Amino acid sequence: MCGIIGYSGPRPAAPVLIDSLRRLEYRGYDSAGVAILDAHGGGTSTVIKSERKVAELARQLEDGAEPAGNLGIGHTRWATHGRPTVVNAHPHQDCTGRIHLIHNGIIENFRELRAELAAKGHEFVSETDTEVVPHLIEELYRGDLAAATRAALRRVHGAYALVIFCAEEPDLIVGARLNAPLVVGLGSEEVFVSSDITALIPYTKRMLLIGEGEVVAARPQSVEVTSLDGSRIEPRIITVDWDAEQAQKGGYPHFMLKEIHEQPETLRQSLRDRVDPDTGLTVLAGLGMDDARLASFENVAIVACGTAWIAGMVTKYAIEQLARLPVQVEPASEFRYRDPLVDGRTLVVAISQSGETADTLAAVREAHARGATVLGITNVVGSALALEADGTIYLQAGPEIGVAATKTFLAQMSCGLLLALRLGDARGLLDVDRHRELTRSLLELPPMLERALQLEPQLAEMAQRYAHARNAMFIGRGINFPVALEGALKLKEVSYIHAEGYAAGELKHGPIALLDPDVPVVALATRSRTLSKVVNNIQEVHAREAPVVALISEGENPFDSGMVRDVVEVPACDELLSPLVNVVPLQLFAYHIAVQRGCDVDQPRNLAKSVTVE
Ligand code: AGP
Repeated sequence: MCGIIGYSGPRPAAPVLIDSLRRLEYRGYDSAGVAILDAHGGGTSTVIKSERKVAELARQLEDGAEPAGNLGIGHTRWATHGRPTVVNAHPHQDCTGRIHLIHNGIIENFRELRAELAAKGHEFVSETDTEVVPHLIEELYRGDLAAATRAALRRVHGAYALVIFCAEEPDLIVGARLNAPLVVGLGSEEVFVSSDITALIPYTKRMLLIGEGEVVAARPQSVEVTSLDGSRIEPRIITVDWDAEQAQKGGYPHFMLKEIHEQPETLRQSLRDRVDPDTGLTVLAGLGMDDARLASFENVAIVACGTAWIAGMVTKYAIEQLARLPVQVEPASEFRYRDPLVDGRTLVVAISQSGETADTLAAVREAHARGATVLGITNVVGSALALEADGTIYLQAGPEIGVAATKTFLAQMSCGLLLALRLGDARGLLDVDRHRELTRSLLELPPMLERALQLEPQLAEMAQRYAHARNAMFIGRGINFPVALEGALKLKEVSYIHAEGYAAGELKHGPIALLDPDVPVVALATRSRTLSKVVNNIQEVHAREAPVVALISEGENPFDSGMVRDVVEVPACDELLSPLVNVVPLQLFAYHIAVQRGCDVDQPRNLAKSVTVE
C-alpha cells in the first residue's frame, strides 16, 4: 500500500501535500516525493523526493525555497518493485517532464510495456513498474490528459490508483483506480484526490466516490467521472462524519481490528502475480533460485521469532507434505547459538515481517557463515533481511501498524504455502493436479476469510464471558497445532492473560493438571484426519469441568451436547489451508477480550513492533 494525494485549488500546494502525506504515512513510509506545478510561472514543475520518511521530505522543502504552485501530487511509498531509493520514489514522469504521476498498486504487464516504449525511444530511469505509465500516456497524449490516461489504462493489467497532472492543463488532476482505493475530496473551489479519506478529512468531508475501472478529471470548479471507454458516470457524493484519527483507522477503533479485517485483501495481495493464470501453478519471481537450485537442497531450516516462528511451523507441515523435504523450525534466538548443523545442502528460510529482527538477522549470518543458502520471507522491500538473503518472497501485505501481528501472519503462511508448492514442483514430487487444486483453493479462500470475519459479533459476545479469566489453554493437532500457539500468543500479547498453546495429544502428559472450571480451553476441532483424536482430548478436558470453546467446520459438530460451552463454526477448506481461516476467530477473540479488559490493543505494554535488539 502507498499513500497518494493530489491537490488543485487556491492554496499553495506544498503544505497541503506534506500535511496530507503525514496522515497517509501509515500506508507506507520507505520513501516519499512531491511534484508541484507553477502554472503562473510558465508551467514549470518542481519535483522533490526523499528515500526517507515524509519528515525528511518536509525538511527538504523547508530548507529550500518552497516550490510555488497551486497544483501538485505527493506520494509516500511501500515498495513492491524496486528498492526504496530516490530514483524509485514517486512521482515518476515522461520524457518531456510535462507529465507527472504517482501510483499505488502493481502494473503486472510493465515489462512488456517498458520494452515496447523503449523500442520507441522512451528512456527509463527507475526499477519500478510505475514508470511505464507516464511514458505510455505521453505516447498517447493529444492535448487531453483524461483521454490519454483512459487510452493508456486500456493497455495496463494489474492494480492501480493513479494521480496524474500535465503542465499543458494547469488546473487539472486526473485520477484512476482499479483494485486499489482512490477517493476525491470536494472543497469549495478546490479539489483533492487521495488513496483514502485520511488525508482529506481536515479539508473537506464531502467525498466523491470513484468506482473500479473509473477515471476522474478533477478541477477546482468541476469534476467529471468516466469509465475507461469514456462514457460519463453519474458522480456519487457522500459526506463522512469521521474525525482524522478515526479516518486513519478506516473507521475502526484500533489498527489491530482494521488489519484483521484487511486479511481477505491481504491474502489476495500475497497471491498476486504468483499463480500462473495459464498453468495454474505457482510462480515466485525474485526467489533468486531456479528449479535446479531449489531441487538441490536436501533439508530446510526455518528460523524466525514470535508469530513469524509460528508461521514457520505451519510452513514446515506444508513443505514436508508437498515437497517431502525434512524441515526443522526453531526460534532464531536458539539457532544462532547452538552450532546448527546446516551447510551448502540446506535451504534456510528466514521469516520476518519487519526484516529487521535482530535474532533473525543473526541467524541468517550464522547460516551464511556455514555455507547455507538463505531465502527471506518479509514484508519490507529494502529491509536488512531482504538485502542479506539470497532470494526473497515479499508478503505484499502493506504496513502493519498494530504491534500484534495479524495480517502479516496470514501473509507469512500464504507465502510459506507458495514456497512449499514451488519446492514440491521443482523436486518433481508434487502431483500437478494436487498443485492446481491447492492454488485454486488458495485463490478461492478470501471469501471464506470474509465469512470468518462475520463471526465477530459472536466472538465479541464470548469475550465478555471470558475476559475475566486469568489463564487459558489453546489446543490443536497437526497443522493447527501452530494455530493454537498463535491463538495463545495473541491473547497473551494484547490482553495480558496467561495463555498456553499445546499439541492436543500432549494435554495428558502434564498440562491437564492445570485445568479447572476457571481455565477456558480453546480447541481447534475443524475438519481433519485427526479430528476424532481432538474430540477425545476435549472429552478429557470436559471431564475436568474446564469450559471449552471449540472451533468446528461449518455444519460438522462432532460433540455430544453439553460437552463444549461455545461452538464457533468456521468455513471448511483443505486442511493444509485451514490455518489461514482458523486464525481469524482467534485473532478476534483475543482482540475483543483485550478491549473488554481496557488494554492498549495497538501498543501492548512491553512490546515493540520490531525487536531490533537481542
Ligand atoms: C507478533 O504478534 C509479535 N509482535 C512478535 O512476536 C513478532 O512476530 C516477532 O517479534 C517477529 O517480528 P518480525 O516478523 O518482524 O521478525
